[in-house]
Amino acid sequence: MTKTARLAARCNRWTPAINGVLVAFVLVVPTTVILLGGRIGEKQAVWIKTAVAGIRRDDASILHPKTTGNGRLLGGLLVEGFDQKSCHSRYQSAVYRRNPGRKPSQYLVSKLRSQEALQRRCGPGTAAYTNALEQLKSGKSLASPECRYLVSISYRGLGNRIIAAASEFLYALLTDRVFLVDPNTSMDELFCEPFLNTSWLVPPGFPLGYRAFYLSTPERYGKMREDGVLRTDQMNGSAASGDLPAFAYIHLDYNQTDHDKLFFCDDDQRLLSNIQWLLIRSDSYIAPGLFLVEAFREELDMLFPERDAVFHHLGRYLFHPTNDVWGLITRYHDAHFAWAQRVVGIQVRVFPWRSESPEILKQIKACTQNERLLPAVLGEEEEEPVVKTTASPSGAKPTAVLITSLKAWYHDKMKGMYWERATANGEVVVFGQPSHEEIQRYGVKSHEHKAWAEMYLLSMADTLVTTGESTFGYVAHGLAGMRPWVLDMGMINSTVGWPCSRDMSMEPCFHIAPTKDCKRREDAGKIVPHVRHCKDRPTGLKLVGQKDW
Ligand SMILES: *[C@@H]1O[C@H](CO)[C@@H](O)[C@H](O)[C@H]1NC(C)=O
Ligand SMILES: *[C@@H]1O[C@H](CO)[C@@H](O)[C@H](O)[C@H]1NC(C)=O
Ligand SMILES: *[C@@H]1O[C@H](CO)[C@@H](O)[C@H](O)[C@H]1NC(C)=O
Ligand SMILES: *[C@@H]1O[C@H](CO)[C@@H](O)[C@H](O)[C@H]1NC(C)=O
Ligand SMILES: *[C@@H]1O[C@H](CO)[C@@H](O)[C@H](O)[C@H]1NC(C)=O
Repeated sequence: MTKTARLAARCNRWTPAINGVLVAFVLVVPTTVILLGGRIGEKQAVWIKTAVAGIRRDDASILHPKTTGNGRLLGGLLVEGFDQKSCHSRYQSAVYRRNPGRKPSQYLVSKLRSQEALQRRCGPGTAAYTNALEQLKSGKSLASPECRYLVSISYRGLGNRIIAAASEFLYALLTDRVFLVDPNTSMDELFCEPFLNTSWLVPPGFPLGYRAFYLSTPERYGKMREDGVLRTDQMNGSAASGDLPAFAYIHLDYNQTDHDKLFFCDDDQRLLSNIQWLLIRSDSYIAPGLFLVEAFREELDMLFPERDAVFHHLGRYLFHPTNDVWGLITRYHDAHFAWAQRVVGIQVRVFPWRSESPEILKQIKACTQNERLLPAVLGEEEEEPVVKTTASPSGAKPTAVLITSLKAWYHDKMKGMYWERATANGEVVVFGQPSHEEIQRYGVKSHEHKAWAEMYLLSMADTLVTTGESTFGYVAHGLAGMRPWVLDMGMINSTVGWPCSRDMSMEPCFHIAPTKDCKRREDAGKIVPHVRHCKDRPTGLKLVGQKDW
């Protein structure tokens, strides 16, 4: 066991809710003692004393969690120095996770430290940033600017925004650009600041802030390439020649053109490296596309010797729930997970045209029971439930199931089934669903807080079942560091035959990926062994780990 794993294993034994229960008990004790006078047995008194002693010790650990050093800092992904009160999740999350996750490479850790230094040197509020804004207003790129920038325009659902931002941050790391995010989508209310002593939010007054960037934007990179305004022979290396614009807008939305897709080509990356400001709009996880760019390969190999842990590390590095969201997470955790032997997370994406589907329910049931994620229930064939008490090992801890869905229906049905019938092995299964918002609402604050809390709670489970093609599920299993069982929605007609399958890696799928590589025009899923087509979206691309090649 690695040191990190040991630490995490130790921390897992520390269960806040159980402590909570004991504390409540002890507070009652003095009254009991007074009421019962001398009648309290000696054994009980001893037990109470032990309990009190035990609590004192554990109580201290609530205030000063035992996770120290590497475990608390996720193997060096995070740094000390942040104000702890402003963002409790940053240093506490390790204590709550059942699975300690993967270890980042030392190279990634040092790269993150230099990126943080770059963010401080060039970020908002610095002289370099002011100069860069002046340059942006002038309309031309300098031949060798002091600092270069990548501005992420985030949009669509929260899952999309998270996977897009993580992969765009990877692009910034690879190209030594300062990474800034559009503050318009309440990023600051959902996530703590990831960089110490600076901010990743574009400050008010950004010169292009009033503009809507989309296909018709004249500075769209694909358009400038298509129109010949930009040519890859225009610049070679750093030898400045042509007039390059101060910024380019990278459009990687679903209706991108073939010229927009040139972004994933080596020649275009050489050209782009000479443009000081890049604005990027994507709702996708573009990382697999970056692994196709030859110029990035060596660096990517060093950063991520485990190719399937890219989102896992960058997601844990960047996305720390704010205190409001952390409150939602920890309160649910303490009430529902802390006492459980095992936590199974099930994410059911609800389609408007099939919101309460008996077929999907059947699929969930077949998947969880066939794959032995949940025990079978007895007597299902009978009309009336058989009332048969199977001996449950007394004192055995139950299994907690977390269901996330816009509808309460799936939860209620599953819960009813496990209440009305005993499980075949006597295991007690307890269901919970934190919220059911009925419809997906973009940009509604409370809805997004809950959505983020639920993704995070799923990522704390021991086992995950997700819905294919769902970015919500991608975030959960990526942060968790595990390959989920995926409910394949295309297979609905053969639900019982093939209800779900194990995903080939924990990485998100890049949905709107380039189909061909730039040079040989070959299938982009067959260029390098670690970039493959996704199971849930066959035209998409996904990073897979070495042992799955
Ligand atoms: C961050 O700012 C604090 C307070 O100004 C300072 O003490 C600390 O050294 C800074 N840390 C880094 C890494 O810049
Ligand atoms: C910010 O978001 C609102 C609502 O989604 C939108 O109307 C507005 O145009 C956005 N502003 C910018 C600068 O993107
Ligand atoms: C620019 O460099 C690339 C690669 O080094 C080369 O293939 C290309 O011919 C060069 N173009 C010009 C105009 O020098
Ligand atoms: C791209 O998508 C937008 C928004 O849905 C739509 O208005 C536009 O017509 C689309 N353009 C193309 C070329 O498909
Ligand atoms: C399932 O099969 C039935 C009958 O073969 C067909 O009518 C229906 O469209 C199929 N549904 C899906 C989702 O493929």
